[in-house]
Amino acid sequence: MEIIKEMKKYYANIWVLANPIIFYRMLKGFFRALVLRKNTLRVIELFPTFACQANCHFCSVDKYQADKKAVLTIDDYDRLARDGAKAGAAVVTILGGEPLMYPHLDELVAVFTKHHYYTHVVSNGLAVTTERLAELKKSGLKCIFFSIESLDPKVNDPIRGEGHVELTLRNLRWAQEIGLATGLGTVMMPGAMEHALGVIEYCEQNGLSASGGQIAPVGKAEDFSTLSSSEFEDVRQYLKKYPKLTFDWVFSYYLKQRCPAGKEKIGVTCFGDVVGCSYNPVSFGNYFEEPLGAILERMRSFSQFKKDFPGCLSSEDPEYIGNYLGPVCEATKHPVSYKDHPAITPENEPEVFGRR
Ligand SMILES: C[S@@+](CC[C@H](N)C(=O)[O-])C[C@H]1O[C@@H](n2cnc3c(N)ncnc32)[C@H](O)[C@@H]1O
Ligand code: SF4
Repeated sequence: MEIIKEMKKYYANIWVLANPIIFYRMLKGFFRALVLRKNTLRVIELFPTFACQANCHFCSVDKYQADKKAVLTIDDYDRLARDGAKAGAAVVTILGGEPLMYPHLDELVAVFTKHHYYTHVVSNGLAVTTERLAELKKSGLKCIFFSIESLDPKVNDPIRGEGHVELTLRNLRWAQEIGLATGLGTVMMPGAMEHALGVIEYCEQNGLSASGGQIAPVGKAEDFSTLSSSEFEDVRQYLKKYPKLTFDWVFSYYLKQRCPAGKEKIGVTCFGDVVGCSYNPVSFGNYFEEPLGAILERMRSFSQFKKDFPGCLSSEDPEYIGNYLGPVCEATKHPVSYKDHPAITPENEPEVFGRR
């Protein structure tokens, strides 16, 4: 019963339980964690494009405008979906850049649907039309979240664009009308928690899911302050108060709050680089060059991913932010390979470099 409650809480979406293959993969994840004490991949974040029509002043992926040539094709994504499923993954979250600017988004959704993933898009909503939503649903999309920073246009629209609040409320309505699971995603900023709180309360009152992010000092936000300790405490209180609110680190197969990066969650860029998540621009290998399993094993042996931080490493853990994100922020391009990171050396991290 406890397991079922946890699964429902995570995506607040009964569909996860209604698909027998996803249900089986998740049960296996719980078994491996709770009985075998082993990690199982659960979520793959994808960044199929880094193009975006917006220019948010805190954008975590701003330095990903890479000049590499080869990008993953739909056939590569098909292979990735299969390899990810073998490693246990049950959910794909398509980010970017702006996912609706990726020209093959429908095929991408279809490929992961074929491999029995719960397919989820996070969008700024600017390119949404009823036709696009209907096409995506036809391709298998189950859920779309729209990012917004406040329900007050005076606060949100200077950040996300003129008319963005109105457009987001319209997008929510359209998504609900065609039967997609939907909700709002919002970033919590120090000294301005009331804006995110307003978004969370709106979701609660309207039966929508809310997904929170604590500002991570990376990309365009590299000089931002993190939340204060009392604000981190407030976040824990919000989680108790608002059942439809979730953060990436709220759920784990171990039935405790912990950062999933590199253990239960990975991010794969369109250039094949495998990172912990969208706030973690350290690459632990490239899918064009190595099998997913080898990269996953390397990530799981990284001291910081191993330590089971009970929150978000990149927005909350001073050790990780100071010693691991800090040096990466010096770089002009992301991601930075683990081999080039000054704190990830064969001496400090022998297992990462294959020396036990
Ligand atoms: C990188 S965006 C990509 C998807 C899409 N373009 C959007 O904005 O929804 C994914 C999510 O990360 C959030 N985000 C961006 N930069 C962040 C940061 N520095 N810290 C925490 N969350 C951030 C965005 O608000 C968005 O909800
Ligand atoms: S947060 Fe999303 S919408 Fe804003 S600039 Fe970054 S990718 Fe674009």
